[in-house]
Amino acid sequence: MDSIRIKGGKPLFGRIEISGAKNAALPLMVASLLTDETVTLSNLPHVADISTLTTLLCQHGAKAVMNGQTAAEGCSGGRALALTADRITNTEAPYDIVRKMRAGALVLGPLLAREGRARVSLPGGCAIGTRPMNLHVGGLEQMGATFDIEGGYMNAVAPNGLHGAEIRFETVSVGATENLLMAASLARGVTILENAAKEPEISDLIDLLRKMGAEIEGDGTDRLVIIGKDRLQGAQHRVMPDRIETGTYAIAAVITGGRLELTNTRAELIRSVLDILVEAGADVEETADGLIIWRTSPTIHGVDIMTLPYPGYPTDMQAQMMALMCICDGAAMITETIFENRFMHVPELARLGANINVHGHSALVRGVGKLVGAPVMATDLRASVSLVLAGLAAEGETIINRVYHLDRGYERLEEKLAACGANIERIAGN
Ligand code: UD1
Repeated sequence: MDSIRIKGGKPLFGRIEISGAKNAALPLMVASLLTDETVTLSNLPHVADISTLTTLLCQHGAKAVMNGQTAAEGCSGGRALALTADRITNTEAPYDIVRKMRAGALVLGPLLAREGRARVSLPGGCAIGTRPMNLHVGGLEQMGATFDIEGGYMNAVAPNGLHGAEIRFETVSVGATENLLMAASLARGVTILENAAKEPEISDLIDLLRKMGAEIEGDGTDRLVIIGKDRLQGAQHRVMPDRIETGTYAIAAVITGGRLELTNTRAELIRSVLDILVEAGADVEETADGLIIWRTSPTIHGVDIMTLPYPGYPTDMQAQMMALMCICDGAAMITETIFENRFMHVPELARLGANINVHGHSALVRGVGKLVGAPVMATDLRASVSLVLAGLAAEGETIINRVYHLDRGYERLEEKLAACGANIERIAGN
């Protein structure tokens, strides 16, 4: 397993191009199962989850062509992916793939809507919590599907197809909103989703579904109305910028006391993160294709944060902001309301000298003068990158083990950081 070695303490200066959003690309790719025509996506990031999902879609019968070249299994190395599911040859999404990547379970709605059946592995728990599927299943049941959960699989049938329904989510769920949006686009009649997620990735999916012929109202609100269609058509779509990657590099500039220009992105996507960074002692200038961020204050001020559904502060940026608060001149209370167990990075940050106390869903971070490098272990995607950020600010050498988590979501992270002056390198493992 590869690891990453960082010699910290160097301020970062330069320009970083932000990749397409992994969390937008995954549902957009799954939407290709809704039509027998070709869906072409551009601005795809080169991250492991994209190849894993391509493998899943191909085993359902989709043909994948990356930058004009057919790939039998897993596509990597290109930015433009054409997916054609002219026939669905298999409606089972196996455990081996879905366990690696929860977004694989998004095929449930599209397969049921198109084929009237689906057998999809339960994704299982993960480091950040139990992550159930009840909202996906409950919504599809209301649309006429029958479920039998057995042997770790959701076996679903809808012999007469799916029909419209009024569905109210008890919790805001990005994945359930996406799954139901896709299913409803190919269902009979009108579906209303109440308490739907409003994340920008949902709007990106709505954009593609509309290009495919779906009729959807309420984009950007928590009430979506979908008028189902008998068939959807192919379309072309550019994946939106990765707001979490944008926010992560914004923190890299501030934590190292440097100045970074982030291109191919939009400041409005991470307004809640930028607001906190300005309070903490940074300044931001918006540009035509992104933003410039730099530290203005010699010390970082402690700022309390609470994770919330969009447009609130994103849970996927909680660990990174905690890394910054570790070196603040006061204290910061960080409260996690989305996932029940998302403080796995705390003991690892403590190995670098951080002073953090966790009480239930909140972590009290008392700022320490400096962090000092140490070997640490990555536990999940965003926790891993918080250790990279802490390592960039720490004195001496930090080695981050198990970086395969990082490769799931960050494209060429060490190259992008090294180009701005970071002393960072990947050490190939066995
Ligand atoms: C997506 C993102 C992930 C992000 C999360 C929250 C992708 C591929 N992943 O994950 O990076 O951290 O949104 O912004 O886009 N829940 C239920 N029942 C369900 C579904 C969810 O109780 O059926 C709960 C979850 O346990 C969690 C909360 O709802 O506590 C939010 O989860 P959800 O928005 O569904 O996350 P994902 O879509 O899996």
